[in-house]
Amino acid sequence: MAGVHQSNHPLILHKLTLLRRQETESKKFRELVRELTWLLAYEALADLPLMDWPITTPMGTMVGHKAAQKVGLVPILRAGLGMVDAFLEVLPTCQVWHLGLYRDHQTLEPVAYYNKLPEAATVQICLILDPMLATGGSAVAAVDILKRWGAQRIRFVGLIAAPEGVRRLQQAHPDVDIYVAAVDEYLTDGSDGRPAGYIVPGLGDAGDRQFGTG
Ligand code: PRP
Ligand code: URA
Repeated sequence: MAGVHQSNHPLILHKLTLLRRQETESKKFRELVRELTWLLAYEALADLPLMDWPITTPMGTMVGHKAAQKVGLVPILRAGLGMVDAFLEVLPTCQVWHLGLYRDHQTLEPVAYYNKLPEAATVQICLILDPMLATGGSAVAAVDILKRWGAQRIRFVGLIAAPEGVRRLQQAHPDVDIYVAAVDEYLTDGSDGRPAGYIVPGLGDAGDRQFGTG
């Protein structure tokens, strides 16, 4: 079964704490999502296959490296959008393929509303970008879509996961590695006045907090 890669880097722990605080307003929230994604990108791409690249420097020749496989970023609308720019800064050659999924408020199951993937897969590695892995329904649906598309290697990159979401994604797709800044405690069940299906302690609604729509 693929692993869960949870980072304990001090910068990630510090920035994630700032992100979680309810006082953090949208502008700062977006900046933190971008900075955290930068740091997670290093981990998610740590084993990116390389090929030799002979070059000439001002002082001589050498055999350098370049990425040997095409990487596709698959941000889940809306909240995954905030993670795209940071990845493109780290690896500018990534293709970006958007998927639109939202959770039905009653069932918490994902509803797909946008998908413009071409007929056949155009990348070897797909990185699904979504800050929150809650019930796992959206992530499982995204992987289902990408596998039907023909994607060979798929990873999930997020900020906060719930144990329930990790289990569901691992059961449905044991080959998909999960890269997150934190695995939190549990999901709300709607029995105590808080809405159901939210990660605790979490950060609330990642889309609303990024885009000021809460
Ligand atoms: C959030 C989040 C994930 C999903 C996670 O999106 O960005 O896509 O919930 O929940 P799950 O693991 O239970 O499926 P949301 O459905 O709120 O859509 P939005 O970003 O457009 O508001
Ligand atoms: N989606 C969010 O944005 N936050 C949660 O805690 C769960 C799902």
